[in-house]
Amino acid sequence: MNILIIGSGGREHAFAWKIAQSSKLANVFVAPGNAGTSAIATNLLIDVLDFTIVKEAVLEHAINLVLVGPEIPLVAGIHDFFASDDELKHVKVIGPKKYAAQLEGSKEFAKEYMMRHHIPTAAYQSFTVDTLADGCTFLESLKPPYVLKADGLAAGKGVVILDNLQDAKQELKQMLQDQKFGNASAKVVIEEFLSGIEMSCFVLTDGKNYVTLPNAKDYKRIGEGDTGLNTGGMGAVSPVSFADEVFLSKVDERIVKPTIQGLKKDGIDYVGFIFIGLIKVNGDPFVIEYNVRMGDPETEVVIPRIKSDFVDLLTATANQSLDTFTLEIDEQAATTVMLVSGGYPSAYENGKTITGLDSIENSVVFHAGTKQINNQIVTNGGRVLAITSFGVDFKEALKTSYQNAEKIKFDDMYYRKDIGFDL
Ligand code: AMP
Ligand code: GLY
Repeated sequence: MNILIIGSGGREHAFAWKIAQSSKLANVFVAPGNAGTSAIATNLLIDVLDFTIVKEAVLEHAINLVLVGPEIPLVAGIHDFFASDDELKHVKVIGPKKYAAQLEGSKEFAKEYMMRHHIPTAAYQSFTVDTLADGCTFLESLKPPYVLKADGLAAGKGVVILDNLQDAKQELKQMLQDQKFGNASAKVVIEEFLSGIEMSCFVLTDGKNYVTLPNAKDYKRIGEGDTGLNTGGMGAVSPVSFADEVFLSKVDERIVKPTIQGLKKDGIDYVGFIFIGLIKVNGDPFVIEYNVRMGDPETEVVIPRIKSDFVDLLTATANQSLDTFTLEIDEQAATTVMLVSGGYPSAYENGKTITGLDSIENSVVFHAGTKQINNQIVTNGGRVLAITSFGVDFKEALKTSYQNAEKIKFDDMYYRKDIGFDL
């Protein structure tokens, strides 16, 4: 079996690492990958958004299954491209088609989906430049803080939360009239602010059946105590201690089941991961957002907790036989701490030599933004390495991640020392 993983981050390294442990003989390719994936798989340095080039690579390496890591190729229709090409349609793709990928690619599409299928979420309305005045009136009807979301993909920057009504009106104008996020903010969703604690829930569906993967909590802000700019994610823990049995059964009944049934009712043949961003408000779950992929760095704690063979899991997904698949989960807790380039998520420099990787004990280091130059591994991105560890609880796991973080060095390296602080 030849598997192609699309992407280049810690998520994709974790996928490749898990596949490398499979008892099934699998050749793994990662496009474009990083220094971590090149050590366990074959990197293909191609532009994954140029689907004709992806096709050439798939045919050349006789790929049977494509696992799509990030959302951009999915929203751009990579699965549809495969399905409509005579030479590619036999290749299994894990990741939804373009229409369903709008669950992540359009906030309004996701909100309409939740309304239609009675899935609890914040009340909302959406506006365009033609209805800017109505948007301002709607803001006046809400209590602060005000939540404004660019409808389209905006590299994780499209959600703005403001305390002041005038600022919120100004922001709405900038998004709609001044195209602050380009075409992504041609439409803006304004929603009720929900106050609570967030977590991520992951489901893998084959279009008929689904399995629930371990849950996780990530830490998005750059600064300790959840302060400062939003990042892709600075660390994660799994499982989430406040997600007890009662809460998780509410999540399953009120959110996961209606989400999966909604796909059937809407005639969507969704094959792939669904990442449900949840918030717990007075003991009840509400959906903050859907993503049509796994989270990063959540994957770096979720995948290591899966004991089942990952190639078997992917094959069962591709063959619509998840109903007969038993997912085995490691009871231990997992944590990951992200080492990032100084300056991230604003400007930072690449090409810093990384040392200490050989001295790591009892952790797995997933590469996020790295590159190999001659015999050296250098930084190649804002998020550089994710240090994942296990423990009887997340505190014990974190201790190991932090001990190992101290052994790794590169110029201007930064990491948050308070992952899990709120649990
Ligand atoms: P999203 O991209 O929709 O996940 O939003 C980014 C972040 O904004 C979330 O992780 C939340 O922290 C926050 N957020 C989004 N929507 C709401 C809401 N309705 N109430 C409170 N916080 C929100
Ligand atoms: N860690 C959040 C995300 O992957 O979107």
